[in-house]
Amino acid sequence: MTKVAIELRECSKIYKSKKLDDVVALNKFSYIFEYGKIYGIMGKSGAGKTTLLNLISMIDDISDGKILIDNISVDKLKISEKALKRNNDIGMIFQNYMLNEYMNSYENIVLPMLINKNVDRRNRKENVTKLINMVGLPDKLKRYPSELSGGEKQRIAIARALANDPKIILADEPTGNLDEENETYIFKLLRKFAEDGKCVIVVSHSNIIKKYADIIINIRKGELYVNK
Ligand SMILES: Nc1ncnc2c1ncn2[C@@H]1O[C@H](COP(=O)(O)OP(=O)(O)OP(=O)(O)O)[C@@H](O)[C@H]1O
Ligand SMILES: [Mg+2]
Repeated sequence: MTKVAIELRECSKIYKSKKLDDVVALNKFSYIFEYGKIYGIMGKSGAGKTTLLNLISMIDDISDGKILIDNISVDKLKISEKALKRNNDIGMIFQNYMLNEYMNSYENIVLPMLINKNVDRRNRKENVTKLINMVGLPDKLKRYPSELSGGEKQRIAIARALANDPKIILADEPTGNLDEENETYIFKLLRKFAEDGKCVIVVSHSNIIKKYADIIINIRKGELYVNK
């Protein structure tokens, strides 16, 4: 039986500006994302991919329409409830990593666990070790982002996104800076998470995503086209 993770009903996002023209980044976008599946989101630069992930992660608000996560309408949640849900259930890998420059890899990865009351503090160190091993960077635990390569930063960001074992993973070009071997490894990992029951949504420009995703969604000028 399939279980709905995220439902978007005619969601629109319009970036408004006093001085400049409004930008319609998403236009009446409707779609149902299920648990146990990996979705590849493709589309040209500026198509609305990051906007879509920002709406799902509740970082940004929709201009019109409705988003339900685990059957709860997001507009009914208070800011603190959104933050809690995001921390507990949603893992985000940002296009520009968003690592804290003043924290080393350990501190960046452990941060979501410090906020999460469900994580036993005695397990934190072991969890971080597991995660940093999973992305192949155990020797970079004490390094700061400025001391890491682009691909290494990306992998630390992936480890951090998985810190609280989220049910939903949103990845914005998670392999944009990786070589082919690491890219394949990350896609396999994301696919495995979907097979384990998570809902995984991956924005990618790489054609390799077509091999690993259950469904490819194309976004063109804020509108949806589903391939398979
Ligand atoms: N804060 C903002 N204010 C105004 N316009 C914005 C804002 N953020 C994004 N946009 C515009 O919304 C549209 C969609 O942007 P978005 O970042 O979602 O694209 P994308 O598909 O992720 O592109 P890329 O592949 O380059 O990352 C673009 O036209 C962009 O210029
Ligand atoms: Mg983007």
